[in-house]
Amino acid sequence: MAAHDEPFSLVIFGASGDLTRRKLMPALWSLYAGRTLPEPFAIVSTARTEMSDDDFRRRMREGVDEFARVKPPSAQVWDRFASALTYIPGDPTDPRLYAKVESALTRIEAERGGAANRLYYCATPPSLYDDIIGNLGAAGLARARPGGFTRIVVEKPFGHDYESAQALDRLLAGVFHEDQVYRIDHYLGKETVQNILVLRFANGIFEPLWNRNHVAEVQITVAESLGVETRGAYYEEAGALRDMMQNHLLQLLCLIAMEPPVSFEAGPVRDEKNKVMRAIRPIEPARVRDSALRGQYGPGFVEGKAVPGYRQEKGVAADSKTETYAALRLIVENWRWAGVPFYLRTGKRLKKRASEIAIRFQRTPHMIFQRDPAGVEANTLVIRIQPDEGMALTVAAKTPGPELTLSPVRLDFRYGEVFGGESPEAYERLLLDAIHGDATLYLRGDWVAQAWKLLTPVLEAWARDPAVPLSAYEAGSWGPTEADAFIARDGGSWRTP
Ligand code: BG6
Repeated sequence: MAAHDEPFSLVIFGASGDLTRRKLMPALWSLYAGRTLPEPFAIVSTARTEMSDDDFRRRMREGVDEFARVKPPSAQVWDRFASALTYIPGDPTDPRLYAKVESALTRIEAERGGAANRLYYCATPPSLYDDIIGNLGAAGLARARPGGFTRIVVEKPFGHDYESAQALDRLLAGVFHEDQVYRIDHYLGKETVQNILVLRFANGIFEPLWNRNHVAEVQITVAESLGVETRGAYYEEAGALRDMMQNHLLQLLCLIAMEPPVSFEAGPVRDEKNKVMRAIRPIEPARVRDSALRGQYGPGFVEGKAVPGYRQEKGVAADSKTETYAALRLIVENWRWAGVPFYLRTGKRLKKRASEIAIRFQRTPHMIFQRDPAGVEANTLVIRIQPDEGMALTVAAKTPGPELTLSPVRLDFRYGEVFGGESPEAYERLLLDAIHGDATLYLRGDWVAQAWKLLTPVLEAWARDPAVPLSAYEAGSWGPTEADAFIARDGGSWRTP
């Protein structure tokens, strides 16, 4: 038997898309293979593409073979999983689709008995959210059934600015209760990201140092070596600020900056993250250029391969102004962090894929070993989110020999070495949490609204003010050279991950 004996049905909207094939189905399969997916379960998938159940199952098998952490050991085991998959072709704007979904769910629930637990998943482009949410409401599908749950998982982007995010929230609130809504940010499901809170709040040694008296600067980097791939049309409308900064990087900042929550539960954790958002100094329109920097990649070489520039990518305008790199300088105005700069940067087609958080501590007040204290590296704690997941702390050590010279050494912990095997994918953890009703690692609507509010002046300046530069950078570099001057104002420099 599976770990939690809780029958459920998952309904995926947008099931012919990339997210379902690359992420959702591989995650569901890996959970099933690891015997952690509650049983019995049913996965009802729908999209516009005409397909039979068997065609859909074949397609999902290909996705699982290519992307899942755990590969199907035999046809029989896969077939058992696949027998729970059904496919309903249909137009999500058409109420008749929802009648079909309802009758499929009712039939499944009658056959298996037990509670009617339903989880809807919006894996479509966001332009369809209105129709899906409205139609679920109109068809009576949003109501929880007696003894069971009804929940909805919504994929980012949650709106494209403050107003549209508020409109989405109003729409959701008209149909679902807030505790039924699960806004997903897959970064929160990553093992290394979950570990930030464990590092901070399960160890006694860091918390006393975790403040303005000891921390000089925080740098958060999410670097990708990939370009926009097949998503040029989407990315043209989004850009790095909306695609990555508004969600993933600001969430990482909140996990680093938040106060200890009273418990590890959705309410307290999300309350503390909201407080951080409220404490970030607003970016006044006149200060956008001091607080934010944007760039766009041109042609270059990534891992020895020639790659086109952003403007040459499919679906991208030849004179596009969309940023593929964004950097922010933020100040958290509270007792813990006043005066400590938080530098955030993210970009596509950078030198390598590397996401990390670096906490640079202050230097010793007086250096007795050498005249020039600047020659000794400041202690830095680096949390490596991916790849090569782990943490490293740089400390100064005596170089062996007759003279007293110092060298920086790293105390390094690597997940792979210590725990072995592959960590579960973010979607595995998050799907399971939604099934079990744990929203701790999901976003609350008020956090999303705060994040949009913070970035609105930047979005507006970048969209409307032609005087704000869009710095070019070569694909395969670490971003625009202007980014160096941007961070140098505080005397710092970007780390090379
Ligand atoms: C997604 C963005 O949210 O995150 C993508 O839309 C980006 O543009 C992706 O590539 C990065 O996720 P990961 O898990 O590969 O770091």
